[in-house]
Amino acid sequence: MAELLAPVVRRHLLSIGDLEREDVERILDTATSLARSLGREVKRLPTLRGRTVINVFYESSTRTLASFELAAKRLSADTMSIRSDGSSVEKGESLKDTALTLAAYGPDVIVIRHPSIGAAQLVSRLTDAHVVNAGDGKHQHPTQALLDLYAMREALGRLDGLHVAVVGDVQHSRVARSLVQALALVGARATLVGPPTLLPPGIEALGCAVSTDIGAISDADVVYALRMQRERMAPGEAFLPSLREYTALYGITPERVRAGQVVMHPGPMNRGVEIDPRVADSAVALVTDQVRAGLVVRMAVLYDVVAQRPVREREPVAGERERSDASPVLTGTPDAA
Ligand code: MLT
Repeated sequence: MAELLAPVVRRHLLSIGDLEREDVERILDTATSLARSLGREVKRLPTLRGRTVINVFYESSTRTLASFELAAKRLSADTMSIRSDGSSVEKGESLKDTALTLAAYGPDVIVIRHPSIGAAQLVSRLTDAHVVNAGDGKHQHPTQALLDLYAMREALGRLDGLHVAVVGDVQHSRVARSLVQALALVGARATLVGPPTLLPPGIEALGCAVSTDIGAISDADVVYALRMQRERMAPGEAFLPSLREYTALYGITPERVRAGQVVMHPGPMNRGVEIDPRVADSAVALVTDQVRAGLVVRMAVLYDVVAQRPVREREPVAGERERSDASPVLTGTPDAA
């Protein structure tokens, strides 16, 4: 019997491209169950008691790191966070050596953010931990895409058929790449809007429309503003004549948002550059809903990689199909400890 089974592989979350629609729906549904449990007075669940989650961040972060840390705590895991500043990385330690060092503590999950594309994949090959990609260069930010879907579904009641206009610095954005793929998985569509210098050639291949005309946002249900990522622009690279001109042509102002639309931004926002403060502070902005969604979605992701059954490399033989429903442990008694 054993030889009939495909090899079992550890479950990771490295890229939206590795997911199927049912994976996305399972994670979002788990997040919804978790959101209900967080409404109780005692917010801690026993789900990951005895497990260890290590966050390793080689780039700055507020929302992503804080929410992964809190998510692990809310699920009763032991957790620690390491930032590259103040760690041995500053002394020149390579990602490989840092990963092997942390692996020696036997973590169940390593959550990693790194400026190099493929860093999370590398850690998944070097260690026995489940690995979650918290952002690798301009490549992927899968948990951001999942929390964005969650926030959209909460605000608009559906994902299927939604049209999302993603505006701004697509060129340097892992958020845009992950989100476009995630929207396609759930039956929504994306239009990328920005100046030609910030729209990478061939990006349509991800399954989206592209426009250099800000007027293209009028047809969308969701206007998603991207941060101008100046830290990813090499010195001397001129993507824009000036930020002032960018804001005049592409800034999300009250005049450009039509009735019925909602506005999103992954944060941190450059108020007055890609988004007008009057929009950021208005009722149509879902920015704090996105932050809230980040906690429950990251709890769901930690639960999903650790506690769901392992995935198999190939389709399992008949009768071996995996159940994808959420475990009762998510809806059970909160941990009073
Ligand atoms: C990211 O880490 O990519 C952020 O969530 C979005 C940004 O930095 O603009």
